[in-house]
Amino acid sequence: MDKILIIDDSQDIRQQLKWGLADVYSVVLAESVNEGISLFKKHQPVVVILDLGLPPHEHSSVEGFRCLSELTDLNPHVKVIMLTGNSERENALKAIDMGAYDFYAKPPVISELKVIIARAVHLANIEEQNRILQKSLQANPGGMGGIIGQCQEMLTVFSTIRKVAVSDVPVFITGESGTGKELVARAIHDTSLRKKQPFIPINCGAIPENLLESEFFGHEKGAFTGAHSTVQGKLQFAHKGTLFLDEIGELPVNLQVKLLRFLQEGIIQRVGGREDIAVDTRTVCATNIDVSKAISEGKFREDLFYRVSVISLHLPPLRERGDDILLLAHYFLRLFSEEYKKRVRRFSASAVAYLKSYSWPGNVRELRNRMQRAIIMCEGSTITPADLGSDQESEELPQQIPSGIYSLREARSRVEIEMIEAAIERNADNIQKAAEELGVSRPTFYDLMKKHGLRKDWPGVIVE
Ligand SMILES: Nc1ncnc2c1ncn2[C@@H]1O[C@H](COP(=O)(O)OP(=O)(O)OP(=O)(O)O)[C@@H](O)[C@H]1O
Ligand SMILES: [Mg+2]
Repeated sequence: MDKILIIDDSQDIRQQLKWGLADVYSVVLAESVNEGISLFKKHQPVVVILDLGLPPHEHSSVEGFRCLSELTDLNPHVKVIMLTGNSERENALKAIDMGAYDFYAKPPVISELKVIIARAVHLANIEEQNRILQKSLQANPGGMGGIIGQCQEMLTVFSTIRKVAVSDVPVFITGESGTGKELVARAIHDTSLRKKQPFIPINCGAIPENLLESEFFGHEKGAFTGAHSTVQGKLQFAHKGTLFLDEIGELPVNLQVKLLRFLQEGIIQRVGGREDIAVDTRTVCATNIDVSKAISEGKFREDLFYRVSVISLHLPPLRERGDDILLLAHYFLRLFSEEYKKRVRRFSASAVAYLKSYSWPGNVRELRNRMQRAIIMCEGSTITPADLGSDQESEELPQQIPSGIYSLREARSRVEIEMIEAAIERNADNIQKAAEELGVSRPTFYDLMKKHGLRKDWPGVIVE
């Protein structure tokens, strides 16, 4: 439940609001500025409802303004809704000027206030998503190989990459499938002194066993049936560059022995050949299997393991990366919207909840694939859980808007907002066309947008 702080000296109003809002929000009450500030620090609510006239100057706005500026100093993103008396319109406008989100004239009508609060919460959430995205763009100015990440574990990964890149030490990358092992291997190469030389990946699990030796070391003409000409091995191609041994856990034991010998001596011989060929390469290996188990079962040689794992680097599963999930989702949203020339801008609240709660067994690769599909499937500008392939029911409206009986005024407002938003979306932000479609003039359409606090780009999360 989102938290709301109410600061009002009137016991009646506090109680009325608490009763009215407690079904949707977790409500915290304060009766003075000082109490309000200390509860604000403690609970960090996204929305505050603040009385303009507070003691000891109940009949002026001094305390209300003081409180507002302290709140916005503490958190510039907080949404403060001012509660004002009817005669205080000018001060209410001044409060907006000082950074309040909205004002509302007493006496409070719960159903109306709920709509204002729901919008404030929704906007706060969207702004937060946007900040996360901006942070990600700043965090990767050079793109660290296009690896997106902000969580502590990924920051450690970046710093390890930077540290190991300049040396030639072998790096051993572990992590579940789809966590970005190959991406990291390429980033190590691209950050290293060998970056202008080749990066040669070999997928040890994908090549039939009888062809592996030749793939690694090459072969001489006539070395075996079908060897019509002399062929260079991948190792030789990696000379001066980086050799990436993917799925090294799948390498058959006899080849593990040969690979170890190469790593110790830096020399290869082609299959069927006698010439010693010196190869200078840096190795980066990756696996998603449990290596210590493979070693104890005799499937992986311990001596090879020690040789290739001077530095080991573990990539956490996506479900353990916290806000990185949303960060990556937004990154892919932008990437694929551009690629497919679609105007998809944002996630619905329920889509965000889905992204956060799903377990992502296929990790970043799965998120990438689902986002690609979502952008292709999405019909409007907002991605729903259904677009993401969720089997849960999609909820188009922000979850915070309570269902139930609305006052006529509230119902009319909601219908207006929905129709305006839909018309803007259908007409690709062309206000003239949207207005024509709804049968009103352009100025009237703008008035309606203003009345409901709508902006053309609201609540888009992509800054263009
Ligand atoms: N942090 C990240 N930021 C951006 N893209 C990522 C990130 N991690 C992975 N990807 C993308 O996800 C996909 C899978 O990554 P990658 O192939 O590196 O995973 P892997 O760990 O090697 O998987 P596997 O074990 O299945 O081989 C790629 O398209 C990659 O570009
Ligand atoms: Mg891989």
